[in-house]
Amino acid sequence: MEVKEQIERLRKELDRHNYNYYVLNAPEISDQEFDRMMRELQDLEAAHPEFDDPDSPTKRVGSDLNQEFVQVPHRYPMLSLANTYNKQEVADFYERVRTGLEGEPFEICCEMKYDGLSISLTYENGRLTRAVTRGDGVQGDDVTENVKTIRCIPLRLQQGTGYPKEFEIRGEILMPWASFEALNREREEREEPLFANPRNAASGTLKSKNSAVVASRKLDAYLYYLLGDDIPGDGHYENLQKAREWGFKISEGMKKVSSLQGIYDFIDYWDVERKNLPVATDGIVLKVNSLRQQRALGYTAKSPRWAIAYKFQAERARTRLNAVTFQVGRTGAVTPVANMEPVQLAGTVVRRATLHNADVMAQLDLHIGDMVYVEKGGEIIPKIVGVDKDVRGPATGPKAEFTTHCPECGTALVRYEGEAAWYCPNDTACPPQIKGRIEHFISRRAMDIDSLGPETVDEYFRRGLIHDVADLYDIRVEQINGEDGTREKSAKKIVQSIAESTKVPFERVVFALGIRFVGEIAAKALARHFKSMDALAAATLDELLQINGIGMVIAESVIRYFHDESNLRIVDRLRAKGVTMALSEEELNAHSDILAGQSIVVSGVFSLHSRDEYKTMIEQNGGKNVGSISSKTAFVLAGANMGPAKLEKANKLGIPVISEEEFLKRIES
Ligand code: IVH
Repeated sequence: MEVKEQIERLRKELDRHNYNYYVLNAPEISDQEFDRMMRELQDLEAAHPEFDDPDSPTKRVGSDLNQEFVQVPHRYPMLSLANTYNKQEVADFYERVRTGLEGEPFEICCEMKYDGLSISLTYENGRLTRAVTRGDGVQGDDVTENVKTIRCIPLRLQQGTGYPKEFEIRGEILMPWASFEALNREREEREEPLFANPRNAASGTLKSKNSAVVASRKLDAYLYYLLGDDIPGDGHYENLQKAREWGFKISEGMKKVSSLQGIYDFIDYWDVERKNLPVATDGIVLKVNSLRQQRALGYTAKSPRWAIAYKFQAERARTRLNAVTFQVGRTGAVTPVANMEPVQLAGTVVRRATLHNADVMAQLDLHIGDMVYVEKGGEIIPKIVGVDKDVRGPATGPKAEFTTHCPECGTALVRYEGEAAWYCPNDTACPPQIKGRIEHFISRRAMDIDSLGPETVDEYFRRGLIHDVADLYDIRVEQINGEDGTREKSAKKIVQSIAESTKVPFERVVFALGIRFVGEIAAKALARHFKSMDALAAATLDELLQINGIGMVIAESVIRYFHDESNLRIVDRLRAKGVTMALSEEELNAHSDILAGQSIVVSGVFSLHSRDEYKTMIEQNGGKNVGSISSKTAFVLAGANMGPAKLEKANKLGIPVISEEEFLKRIES
């Protein structure tokens, strides 16, 4: 009995701190304290599965079991709003409402228009029972498991606050700017395609089949629309204030006004102030506040007559296109870049804008000398959104065509199946590709040769000192200390730090090679699995695909890399210079064959190590990670909250289910 109370107390406390932190932005305890309580609860729940609760705060970490989304119909269709783009159109809306209400006084609730994706949440008896995306407005995807990982969305409402027995609440799921930028930085490092804006990132995340991924992406949500048979009162604004008490995150930037001027003031204020918000907004939503009046005004086929969206002007400038140049990246991908007459835009001077790829460029139909529109909307990098064709004349230059040959080395470009980009295939001799590879090799997370930077690499390359990464180890002090020896001290330091880099661990050497698609995580997995460069170079496609985290794209790229003679020569030369080519004795000893030949399923939430760490330990000890339980499974490593269906299956097949403590004991012996 005592344990049950302790579990319940912890759940309540954690729910409260979650709410303070994610909804009110006012934490009362430190992150460490929060984590400590969470671990305590996880331990207790693991030891006492009989007190399981699907709404426990421990469930917020998601699961990496693949899920399929089921389509469910909306109880009330999810309509969109009519858009307006200027104040005159807002005035027209105001007039239509006035006439529609036959002169009755009315109030307008002004709100932010959040630029994310809409979600509909159903609560029954204070519990979140379903979360559905907009879909086509009539039916959407059931994404409940993913939504449960979003910390500001209450799984349970605040007791005693008078919420209705059953209701729906709608709102917007968003990825805050900070999370978006961090996510894109990570993706850039792994050479994965970047998300264009937080909305795409949020949408991609919410549709992930893996709720653990959703949990890691730090989504946010604002709620703005209550629906149901017995919602509190007639005022939309007042109802939302109540919903805040129930536990929902409701925008602070909401205001009721009773004049057109009040609306304009709200628009003007937020058009500036929105830039300080942590999430993207793209306009203002105006709603007639009284639900009775809303009903009186009704709907058109597509949208309510009682509401309208006013869209902010994306910050846009008009300037002349002077030229289109082409940039070659480390992978050989060629990106078209618009070079423009400098123009002021959203606080910075813009000279260049990306044109993304050949398809985007063709669609814009650009001519050199065109007057173009540049925008810096939700995107970080300015982009050209259109051409002012009215001023195109005989003096305008020729159509801007995508290049057929590499601007750096003249090689004819190629396009790979399924990719939008054109590539320069001359990877061994094309200068930016060579320099890019060397810069990657010396970078902090690779060989960490911090005495060198892009300028020095460029200089050494131009002087013919380096053509590939192995050449770095041949550099001598007298080659780089300057004519008069003035740079001797820094020259010595450079040579020394290059020599020291031979000692970096094997996994970083694998990363440093710059094998396409092999980021840090994949490099680590490859290094730990194959243990030496020779074994890695000899790996077959099948062997590679067995490794957790290595899919077809990476596996094929590894094979391609080690089939290339010039790469093999570089690896040999690095070896001759003493660069680490295998796991160290110490790293090897950390491993065993104790789990050799065993297929193991890892499931649930762990407290001593992360799930990924357990998976690595399994591999390090010779075991194999598998996703689902079968008669061939050796055992299930179960954390808290292992799914009941899995547990049942394991029991039925007589597969042992062991705890993390037991697992650690096993691999220690
Ligand atoms: S109310 C029937 N309020 O804009 C009206 N929508 O084009 C229901 N949105 O699908 C929507 N902020 O995704 C409403 N404060 C707000 C909003 C908002 C963003 C989105 C929502 C909706 C779209 C309408």
